[in-house]
Amino acid sequence: MNKSVIIFGSINIDLVTTTSRLPLPGETLIGQEFFTVFGGKGANQAVACGKLEIPTELVGRVGGDQFGQDLLANLQEAGVGIRAVEVDRDTSSGVAAIAVAADGENQIIVIPGANGKISTAEVSRVEDFLPKAAMLLLQLEIPLDTVIAAAQAAQRVGVFVILDPAPMPPVFPPELYGLIDLITPNQVEASQLLGFPVDDRASATRAAQELCQRGVKNAVVKLGAQGAVCATPEDCFFIPAFPVETVDTVAAGDAFNGALAAGLFQGLPLKEALIWAAAGGAIATTKPGAYLSDRATLEDFLKSRNHFKGLHL
Ligand code: RIB
Repeated sequence: MNKSVIIFGSINIDLVTTTSRLPLPGETLIGQEFFTVFGGKGANQAVACGKLEIPTELVGRVGGDQFGQDLLANLQEAGVGIRAVEVDRDTSSGVAAIAVAADGENQIIVIPGANGKISTAEVSRVEDFLPKAAMLLLQLEIPLDTVIAAAQAAQRVGVFVILDPAPMPPVFPPELYGLIDLITPNQVEASQLLGFPVDDRASATRAAQELCQRGVKNAVVKLGAQGAVCATPEDCFFIPAFPVETVDTVAAGDAFNGALAAGLFQGLPLKEALIWAAAGGAIATTKPGAYLSDRATLEDFLKSRNHFKGLHL
């Protein structure tokens, strides 16, 4: 049976401004550039998988506007299946206002639009895909109750669930922990989840282990340019980041998750799939906007750093 990666999540247009630094609260800054790119955590993760030539299906919603049409065309071009992406004629597409500073750091405000209207109808679409799903990728940019319902459905049929807990809701639903096979917070999200600062390898190790104690099976805490720490039931290990010239960190976490799913889909052990993830995340920071590399670029990158093992689908 041909399996695929199922992604249930948001689809946005990103309105990106660049500035020398991020503004303080109440401050007006004169920036440099403005451009629009395709984004949304769900769509980014789907495009990352699609461009890595992994069979991928996205379940989500776009608005009945021109953005919606453009977003669908972009997904298709990346090889992502869109038969379960609903066009909502009564709503606008999701939009993200993004400021990117010269050091590559960013701030993002998301207006959910059609993403906010995702409901049990979309959960049923996810359920339809589960018999052929190798794994289900979730984030938190769509209504929380639908994320929980999709994770429950996946657990019922034994499908591996990866959750990127972004953006962090005011209260993280505790019932989600026991439904997650692999959680992948960044350091901000890990701090928010656990209530202590996560900013280096030692605190990330503690965070990953505590997340496992809360019920997730495996936890990866992403530390950006400092690497990532992974806790599993048997082990706890560190994955170094690949040093690159960073211009923009937008969607680096999405690229990480997409490449992680791609690695796991190909049967790589978690440690090696995390090297793919680290490469996908690093490459994403080298270009403006949500930059998601194709398979040849990722393989060349790994070869150039002596990490390529010659995988074939
Ligand atoms: O993770 C980056 C993404 O967050 C952006 O593409 C934006 O749309 C928001 O969803």
